Amino acid sequence: MSELRFENVTVRYGRTTAVDEVSLTVPEGAVVGLVGESGSGKSTLARAAVGLAPLTTGRITLGGDPIPARGRPRPLQMVFQDPYSSLDPRMTVGRSVAEAMPPGGSRADRRAEVERLLELVHLNPSCAGAVPSRLSGGQRQRVALARALAARPRVIIADEITSALDVSVQGAVLNLVRELQRELGLAMLFISHDLAVVRYVASQIAVMRHGRLVEQGPTTRVLTEPEHDFTRELLAAVPGRTTRRNRP
Ligand SMILES: Nc1ncnc2c1ncn2[C@@H]1O[C@H](COP(=O)(O)OP(=O)(O)O)[C@@H](O)[C@H]1O
Ligand SMILES: [Mg+2]
Repeated sequence: MSELRFENVTVRYGRTTAVDEVSLTVPEGAVVGLVGESGSGKSTLARAAVGLAPLTTGRITLGGDPIPARGRPRPLQMVFQDPYSSLDPRMTVGRSVAEAMPPGGSRADRRAEVERLLELVHLNPSCAGAVPSRLSGGQRQRVALARALAARPRVIIADEITSALDVSVQGAVLNLVRELQRELGLAMLFISHDLAVVRYVASQIAVMRHGRLVEQGPTTRVLTEPEHDFTRELLAAVPGRTTRRNRP
């Protein structure tokens, strides 16, 4: 079982409550979207899951167990907004991906695994010899995903992974996320400030505001019958979308 559970999680920085009593479950094999405006606490919640933000109260478990913050394997992997800062600029793509793989296997096996991972994210295996600066933003984000997958995680947390990309390549990365979910049964907490992005990949949506979850449920329900005013506001910002209440 590899359900990721946040139970009554609170994170305080001094007098700022960044995350306030959040309970959220990412079921095995599902993509859960976490949406909310900038500063609502999304990244803090994600960082808490990998030990980068201190829990004031609550607990976070994966498959019922606490999540190891160090050592290998790392069952929970993060992918961030800026693939350039998360990839070592001096390391080739192949080395970056190989470094994240569990130890063991011959050199040839490891090279074949790197190729397999690059193909999985629709990169040409010849990219293995390139440094990140040779790649486009979209390609770098594919490398970041390949690197996360290399660790054979049970869950990936993707924090604004399309936000720094041109609109023209956002769609391709989102399609890749959908494909990975479908083909690998990959579970993901998919974070974005943009509901238009989240609804495309997530089967469930959680809406965060001022550190709290104000609404969560199946994507279609949240989109057609939002319960919270703030969700309606987010929806109003999505082009070509009307809620039931707003419909003529
Ligand atoms: N390391 C930190 N120290 C102090 N305050 C922080 C820290 N990280 C985040 N915050 C504060 O927590 C709140 C939530 O931030 P964040 O989780 O980054 O929101 P989001 O990812 O939704 O934009 C903000 O008010 C932010 O200023
Ligand atoms: Mg953030």
